[in-house]
Amino acid sequence: MAYSEGNTTGSKITLHMVSSLDGFIAKKDNNVSWLESPGSVYEAGVSISPEEAAAFVKTIDCYVLGSRTYEHALELGWPYGDTPTVVVTGRKLPSAKKSVEFYSGDLKTLVEEKLAPRYRNIWLVGGAMLCQRFLSLGLVDEIRLMIAPVLLGDGVWLFGSMTEERWNLKNVVAYKNGFVELSYSAGTA
Ligand SMILES: NC(=O)c1ccc[n+]([C@@H]2O[C@H](COP(=O)([O-])OP(=O)(O)OC[C@H]3O[C@@H](n4cnc5c(N)ncnc54)[C@H](OP(=O)(O)O)[C@@H]3O)[C@@H](O)[C@H]2O)c1
Repeated sequence: MAYSEGNTTGSKITLHMVSSLDGFIAKKDNNVSWLESPGSVYEAGVSISPEEAAAFVKTIDCYVLGSRTYEHALELGWPYGDTPTVVVTGRKLPSAKKSVEFYSGDLKTLVEEKLAPRYRNIWLVGGAMLCQRFLSLGLVDEIRLMIAPVLLGDGVWLFGSMTEERWNLKNVVAYKNGFVELSYSAGTA
């Protein structure tokens, strides 16, 4: 799985998001129930057992999220367990979890001074606003994009208005539930 060596500090930032076929990560009203509804079974696809999924999640050292994703995750049921989680916000938010710390300020400083010295496998898990900021600052080493078999037509657009940038395809996995995961490493400048 570890095909990218990450940045020069030895840590790696992976952007991981689930997108609709037409590039949205949530409906306009923030609804993400479409994530749960697969299409018809894709027989040639693979599936992952709960044990394999749990073992994989254990390899993640830290999650990074924007405040809207944080607030929505608290509402829906916290999916990040006790893994250290950094929430980026300019507001004073109440701390609902021991594993959560809040950060406000420059994102390059966050990565260089707070994350890279402490964690190797860092997962940036949304939302769109924070991911776009990380991408535009060149702070993402790997993109793992899970495409759900659904068109939403409207909503929170994952990539917004990005500038042209090449990424290197490293892996493609098709799942039995019709989802496809595309993995890319950052291109050389
Ligand atoms: N499909 C998926 O895989 C997936 C994954 C994650 C989230 N989502 C969904 O996406 C939606 C949220 O995404 P979103 O794009 O609206 O919001 P978001 O990126 O989660 O959060 C945006 C907030 O993060 C803070 N922020 C972002 N950049 C910052 C910076 N440079 N400095 C300081 N603070 C910064 C700001 O917080 P303050 O306003 O507090 O200052 C900003 O309002 C939710 O519906 C969530 O459920 C879907």
